[in-house]
Amino acid sequence: MQTQVGIVGAGPAGLMLSHLLHLNGIDSVVIDTRTREDIEGTIRAGVLEQSTVDLMTETGVGERVKRIGQVHEGIEIRYNGRGHRIDFTELTGRAVTLYPQHEVLKDLIARRVEDGGDLRFGVTDVRVEGLTTDKPVISFSHEGRTETLECAFVAGCDGSRSTTRTLIPAGEVRQDLFRQYPFAWFGILVEAPPSSDELIYANHENGFALISTRTPTVQRLYLQVDPDDEVDDWPDDRIWEELHTRVSGEDVTIEEGRIFSKSVLPFRSYVCEPMQHGRLFLAGDAAHTVPPTGAKGMNLAIADVYVLAKAFARCFERGDTQLLDSYTDTALRRVWRAQHFSWWMTSMLHRMPESSGFDRKRQLAELDVITSSAAGRRLLAENYVGLPLEL
Ligand code: PHB
Repeated sequence: MQTQVGIVGAGPAGLMLSHLLHLNGIDSVVIDTRTREDIEGTIRAGVLEQSTVDLMTETGVGERVKRIGQVHEGIEIRYNGRGHRIDFTELTGRAVTLYPQHEVLKDLIARRVEDGGDLRFGVTDVRVEGLTTDKPVISFSHEGRTETLECAFVAGCDGSRSTTRTLIPAGEVRQDLFRQYPFAWFGILVEAPPSSDELIYANHENGFALISTRTPTVQRLYLQVDPDDEVDDWPDDRIWEELHTRVSGEDVTIEEGRIFSKSVLPFRSYVCEPMQHGRLFLAGDAAHTVPPTGAKGMNLAIADVYVLAKAFARCFERGDTQLLDSYTDTALRRVWRAQHFSWWMTSMLHRMPESSGFDRKRQLAELDVITSSAAGRRLLAENYVGLPLEL
């Protein structure tokens, strides 16, 4: 088998890359160790920046997000028992859309299948070789057969536990830039009506809480917990009591309901530099992880492949590798801004276990600075709705 771009991983980065390449007349094969059912059924975050929705719409995969995605024109930041609205539309003219990641994946898979794209799910024994030659090869097993795929380039879109990333020699070439946080998020899915029209990010001395939503009848709520906590440490009563405590106030009532999913989410910041090596190009979580507080994860994946698809197109059309050569620099500028924003939102909203009375008061003052000044609110809003996509 031969293709122009071999794509390892059928998540947001891999599928959107394959779709964008197709629109540019470039063929690709996407492989993933997971099944299609797994990919389409795994519930992840769901905040899409305006430019992510615009790109989906412009490239013909935006029909459902436009129809069933919920446009949010602001969020609420809560502390000391009071809510403070950040009005995105007034401050930036832009908005975000709540639309779960797996719905984006369903849209992309459906479109790739319709366009005759080659997607291989449930593959095993993936090996990538020859990255520093001009003929890299991906081999894998699929439906009992061993396949060998010769490519001009390989895109590593295989998520935060990426194996393609490890093909960049550690130390001499690859730097792993990490930050651990001394807490995790406990996430639940609940059968209940929404508690609020907009997302609520709550700072409380017991720890952070987030009120998000999925559909009119399913809500997504999170609590900051100890990183060693397990699902069994949090019976329903304890969850509701903490949510009421952390998001209390006269102007908000948490709607309770049947909790049908509980999970503890890892929480860290990570960047792999460079994002390319020889003929391998990393995109999405394979190259970087952000803490979920800034709601940037999937958007960064889409922004990476927007750049990467243009770079491949330039290379195949004109033999010009300039955009490919500068891919890491172009992508990292946005990645580091998103890292900063995600870290900042995290540090402003969470309880740091080691923090002193001074730190706590300073944190409340920071929230006051940001929410009480139009400049502060705009800084938050501009970063939350996201930068325009650019090369
Ligand atoms: C979510 O709905 O899962 C969600 C929303 C906002 C965040 C993180 C997660 O910042």
